[in-house]
Amino acid sequence: MTRQPLRLAVAEAERALAAAGVDTPRVDAELLAAHVLGVPRGKLLMVPLVDHEVVAALGALVARRAAREPLQHLTGTAPLGDLDLAVGPGVFVPRPETELLLRWGLEALGGVSAPVVVDLCTGTGALALGVAHARPDATVHAVEKDPAALAWARRNVDALAAAGGAPVRLHAADVTAPDPLPDLDGRVDLVLSNPPYVPEGTPVSPEVAADPHHAVFAGADGLAVIRSLVDLTACLLRPGGAVAVEHDDTHGESVPALFAARTLFADVALHRDLAGRPRFTTARRT
Ligand SMILES: C[S@@+](CC[C@H](N)C(=O)[O-])C[C@H]1O[C@@H](n2cnc3c(N)ncnc32)[C@H](O)[C@@H]1O
Repeated sequence: MTRQPLRLAVAEAERALAAAGVDTPRVDAELLAAHVLGVPRGKLLMVPLVDHEVVAALGALVARRAAREPLQHLTGTAPLGDLDLAVGPGVFVPRPETELLLRWGLEALGGVSAPVVVDLCTGTGALALGVAHARPDATVHAVEKDPAALAWARRNVDALAAAGGAPVRLHAADVTAPDPLPDLDGRVDLVLSNPPYVPEGTPVSPEVAADPHHAVFAGADGLAVIRSLVDLTACLLRPGGAVAVEHDDTHGESVPALFAARTLFADVALHRDLAGRPRFTTARRT
């Protein structure tokens, strides 16, 4: 059987994905090729020729991606910082922009030994695991209400623990319920959260529509969960403890205002992404 140049198969995949309106056709084509070959994307150049079976397997994945199945559902993983998290249908796919929040949180923990950290609305466990990986001395709690998401979180937590990372304690709970973590009240050094925040009815891409609805949307103004998070965070943080909450780019005034309205919070700050869009808000417990 004749072998074919991989670069031609990748170029054809790129063309098909561009025609389907995929934002990053080259990156997606290369990541799918790397997935089929079982090599890191950076090593594709070391595979000049591939068998017909590889081209066929790549073609099948490209057809699914062209139908706008999320890339991460096809590869089964999504990166966050140094971690590769297992993902699939039924759980929110962690996005690169959440790394900004994680980085801020890790900096806020500088100088705090054996910190207690809570990730509210954990999904795959992304933020909780990012902290546990970077700070093995931390005690990390993660809260999620959706059983399907919790199953993915359990899988990722077990994988990090098996690799020698700090264990993450998972809590099946609703962050809008009264006092869901009573044992942690007043003891927490850092609360991180990427909750659902898109205003109901906002048009979204097919990839975002593939995430569970309740993981993305939160009421008419997108603040239905964040309002409760502000109250819960005020209970959980110790004096001097810090919080960072990701939000919609339409929330650049409303979320800082929710924190500033509580005398329990100080140093309220809005953080923008590299494109200048409001991305997350931070505060400290007085
Ligand atoms: C935007 S996703 C983010 C997941 C994860 N933090 C990340 O960055 O990848 C929001 C998550 O919050 C969960 N969620 C939504 N409402 C919740 C609530 N009231 N209590 C607990 N979890 C909730 C959803 O099931 C979903 O997993």
